[in-house]
Amino acid sequence: MPPDLDRLRALPKAEVHAHLEGCFEPAVLEAWATQAGIAMPRPRERLFQFEGLAGFLHFLDWACGLASTRERLAELSYGYAKRLADNGAGYADVIFNPTHWKAWHGRLPAMIDAMDAGFTAAEQDGLPPVGLCVSLLRTQTADEATELVDALVALRHPRVVALSIDGNEAAAGRTGPRFAEAFRRAGAAGLRRAVHAGESSGPEGVRDAIELLGADRIDHGVRAIDDLALVELLAERRIPLGVCPTSNLVLGVYPSIEAHPVDRLRRAGVVVSLNTDDPVLLGASLVGEYALCSTTFGWSEEVLRDVACDSITASFANADVKERLLADLARW
Ligand code: ADE
Ligand code: ZN
Repeated sequence: MPPDLDRLRALPKAEVHAHLEGCFEPAVLEAWATQAGIAMPRPRERLFQFEGLAGFLHFLDWACGLASTRERLAELSYGYAKRLADNGAGYADVIFNPTHWKAWHGRLPAMIDAMDAGFTAAEQDGLPPVGLCVSLLRTQTADEATELVDALVALRHPRVVALSIDGNEAAAGRTGPRFAEAFRRAGAAGLRRAVHAGESSGPEGVRDAIELLGADRIDHGVRAIDDLALVELLAERRIPLGVCPTSNLVLGVYPSIEAHPVDRLRRAGVVVSLNTDDPVLLGASLVGEYALCSTTFGWSEEVLRDVACDSITASFANADVKERLLADLARW
């Protein structure tokens, strides 16, 4: 039986793993590129065809390089909040990685202000609140990492809730030790910590995220399934995974949804949520992720409710927002 999409839309939930870099519409990118006299990497129809994570990250540099004005950043942010509301989410933690946005290099406060303007306008229009997770790239140096954290701590922008790290672990090798000091400083200053691991790394990347980076939440983390002691540790410590099934399929982490470990992790007691990662670029929607898992794994309403509950509790939303969403969920 096909899933009831309206029922899934109505399910109160949060998104905890989505990148602003993944929210560009192809027609908008084409218009901006034409206006700037910059060549498209391929025709619009094939613009979002990716070979894997490395090529995908390279594309992000091109796309984000076109978002050169405050208005463009604010509109992109507003558009994400609209997408959230359309998918029945009541809150999101949104990641952005300053390294991708060439026009904004050296202007972090102005960049955060521009996004904040978009998210504030969205909230004023009744769209869901959003917290920002500012991300390091796995291939940066230890000095670049501490410099970013020190800048965030000095800025103390109320929109910023967490330090994040993303990018390609396979290209960078084992980098947990390199980023330990930056994550220590972030934690000491009261920022939450979210770590991409177990996507382009195996379980050892997830272990480093916990032991060296003090992760409050792991983005992806799915390759933990290859180490059952680690699965037990995640479950025992209730360290949530922000799982993105469609992203893992499009970027080739798993060959099919049937082979995807999200349901095995959940049944082993790990706190898992469903997320879109880079919704427009990877062709994912939040309701679509719930529908996909519900169909593939035969999830009952009780399981859907549990996963939505985990998405809310795993988020970095403030206590009031969490309480309201959990109360809504109890009425679903
Ligand atoms: N940045 C945007 N999407 C990402 C992903 N899936 N993995 C690592 N870094 C990313
Ligand atoms: Zn991600």
